[in-house]
Amino acid sequence: MTAVGIDAIEIRSGKLRLDLPNTFAPQKGDDPEKYTKGLGLTNSSFPDVYEDIVTMGANAAKRLMDRKGLEPDDIGRIDVATESAFDHSKPVSTYIAGCLEKVYDGDFVHANKGERKFACVAGTQAVDDAYNWIRAGRNRGRAAIVIATDTALYARGDPGEATQGAGAVAMLIAEDPNLVELSNDQGYGSKDETDFLKPNQQFPSVDGKRSMQVYLSRMREALEDYESVAGKIELDDFAYAPFHTPFPGMVRKAALLAYRHVIRDTEYEDDLAGEIGRQPREGEYDDREAYEEAIREYMDELKTTEQYRTWYDDAVEPTLGLSREVGNWYTSSVHVARVSALRDALERDRDFVGETLLVASYGSGAQAEIHAETVRERWRSEVEALDIDDQLERRYDLSWEEYEDVHDIHEYDKDLDREIEEFTAPEGEFVFTGWGRMNE
Ligand code: CAA
Repeated sequence: MTAVGIDAIEIRSGKLRLDLPNTFAPQKGDDPEKYTKGLGLTNSSFPDVYEDIVTMGANAAKRLMDRKGLEPDDIGRIDVATESAFDHSKPVSTYIAGCLEKVYDGDFVHANKGERKFACVAGTQAVDDAYNWIRAGRNRGRAAIVIATDTALYARGDPGEATQGAGAVAMLIAEDPNLVELSNDQGYGSKDETDFLKPNQQFPSVDGKRSMQVYLSRMREALEDYESVAGKIELDDFAYAPFHTPFPGMVRKAALLAYRHVIRDTEYEDDLAGEIGRQPREGEYDDREAYEEAIREYMDELKTTEQYRTWYDDAVEPTLGLSREVGNWYTSSVHVARVSALRDALERDRDFVGETLLVASYGSGAQAEIHAETVRERWRSEVEALDIDDQLERRYDLSWEEYEDVHDIHEYDKDLDREIEEFTAPEGEFVFTGWGRMNE
């Protein structure tokens, strides 16, 4: 069977930068290390006055099409994943296709378009939809473009404010892909939860601490479900494990949970037993509380072991490089983590073809998904083509007052009492010019 997967990726960052330790922390009266060490974030990307989810998505998709030499006729499907949609009826993919039609000969009349919503996991769900469409033979030789795009903003003063970000990832899903082949095996952990919601409101109502617990619970279920179809996960089989990254500190917790789960009843657990004992088993305790306390103690020990540190430093830490610089991009966050991993492999000049990634996606509300993907022969040229370093380098550095302006201008319902000028100049790109109109 022909391989199906991600052929190419483009990333588009918001063009502004908020420095967390030097600009945000002093305003909050916080120790800068709460952000750099605790949350694990250094900077956030923000959209300029003329950027939004449509322009960032369209700019990423255009670069993808141009770099791959694609015309609209080559694309049979455009799916957008977002949790920042401004339209409850018309999918963001139609707005983006409308932008693209302004600059290409031909149109996307033949292309199926849609919008996927399930918080941050929607980006991976849209990739799955495109994969299924191709595997079902409905693509008529065409590829799909999946765009994950978000302005991940929180209300001013919300604890989530430090984790904001804005950007888009466009992915070409195709047969015989250059980058990674997607495996057919998936595992899910899915449950009705109310820790993070946006019922007819722009900024989320979020119970941050609970949202972290929900992330971990759904992830554990997804790992179990994945193993029920793909067999026991062997850590040595995976070069990297990119997780959904709302902030790197969350991934530190998720990685530890995944490690504990995966080593249970294996020789890894036996190897560690002399040092930190075996994992607590629920039946060994009188009640759930005592068991959970014992698990916490075991995890505290586990994270200090050399075995765990080595795995984390090799397979997880390299997935966080971009996230530390851009913040949470919601639907594209796990796809940014994958790119960080691929860039790490490139930097280290790894012999990477045929290696496997264990990808852990998550969306509040809540659902986790685990799947594996295998690196393809032509991965290197795809990663070399990324221009994200240049974009990050060129971001405009916001002062605190400018950050307040940017937040205000992107708040849909806010009555602004002042004019806010753009901070950067558009350069041959799609810009937001007002509702209902998108011009280059
Ligand atoms: N030096 C080093 N570390 C420090 C520190 C210092 N001076 N001060 C604090 N820290 C550490 C804390 O110990 C903590 O780390 P641990 O959790 O490992 O103990 C970390 O920095 C954060 O500190 P707080 O817990 O005090 O931070 P907070 O309460 O202000 O906010 C948050 C944290 C609740 C996660 C908040 O950022 C939030 O609400 N975020 C939005 C929700 C979110 O991202 N949830 C993640 C799971 S849901 C999801 O993944 C979906 C999604 O994309 C939103």
